[in-house]
Amino acid sequence: MNDIKRNKVQAFQDKVFNWWKDNKRDLPWRKTTNPYYILISEIMLQQTQVNRTIEKYNEFIERFSTLEILAEAKTADVLRYWSGLGFNRRALWLHDAAKQIMEKGFFPKTPEELLKLKGIGPYTSRSILIFAFNENLATIDTNIRRILIAENFAEDKAQEKELFKIATKLLPIGRSRDWHNALMDYGSQELTATRTGIKPASKQSKYKSSKRFYRGIIVKYFTRKEKADAIEIAKNCEIPLEQLDEILQSLQKDGLIKEEDNNYSLP
Ligand code: ADE
Repeated sequence: MNDIKRNKVQAFQDKVFNWWKDNKRDLPWRKTTNPYYILISEIMLQQTQVNRTIEKYNEFIERFSTLEILAEAKTADVLRYWSGLGFNRRALWLHDAAKQIMEKGFFPKTPEELLKLKGIGPYTSRSILIFAFNENLATIDTNIRRILIAENFAEDKAQEKELFKIATKLLPIGRSRDWHNALMDYGSQELTATRTGIKPASKQSKYKSSKRFYRGIIVKYFTRKEKADAIEIAKNCEIPLEQLDEILQSLQKDGLIKEEDNNYSLP
């Protein structure tokens, strides 16, 4: 499996690019190579589906049109514009990233520098450099992993490192941006999970997702209501009382809400 023949690589690239000619999705973050806008879209797309991200992305870049504007914005305002995307910690990380990049004075140009920013992991660091700068790097998301398996370049049980090696061999040098856009379209429109029967590598546990669900509801509540005590929160957000303390504590720990005199509010 490790040794992929050159003609197989070429044939695969041709097949994907040929398919893509007639099947490109027109997505707003593909109309720009501004690294700041790419950073926003990639953080949003980490856990939110493409269709749900489009409108939020457009609103967000209209309101926070430059890195500087975002860096200087109030946290509550950033959270307000994030509301509806879920995983609100991502908004705080993005806000922090904007401040750190402003301080530094230039946009990070290597995966290592990007990895130092909270909320940016191996996947996102590479995808930012690919979509903003057309860097000759490979990256693996759930769609790309499924393609590698469905096209017999990788086995179902292959680990991240192995997948990454294979993806690097398949990369058409100098066309990384187009290639990754094409792969993401090919995976999500053509080689879908339903059609291929290939399941995602990992799944969030039920427990985690329910806690996350309530956390999101509380943050959203505070984008409309200035402050409230724990009992009001439980009532208005329908949080099970036995989970209330833990959830409020975790939100405070992550800096998403603050507490003063038994009242909670956005930071
Ligand atoms: N998911 C993550 N990044 C994406 C992108 N640039 N286009 C489509 N889906 C994505």
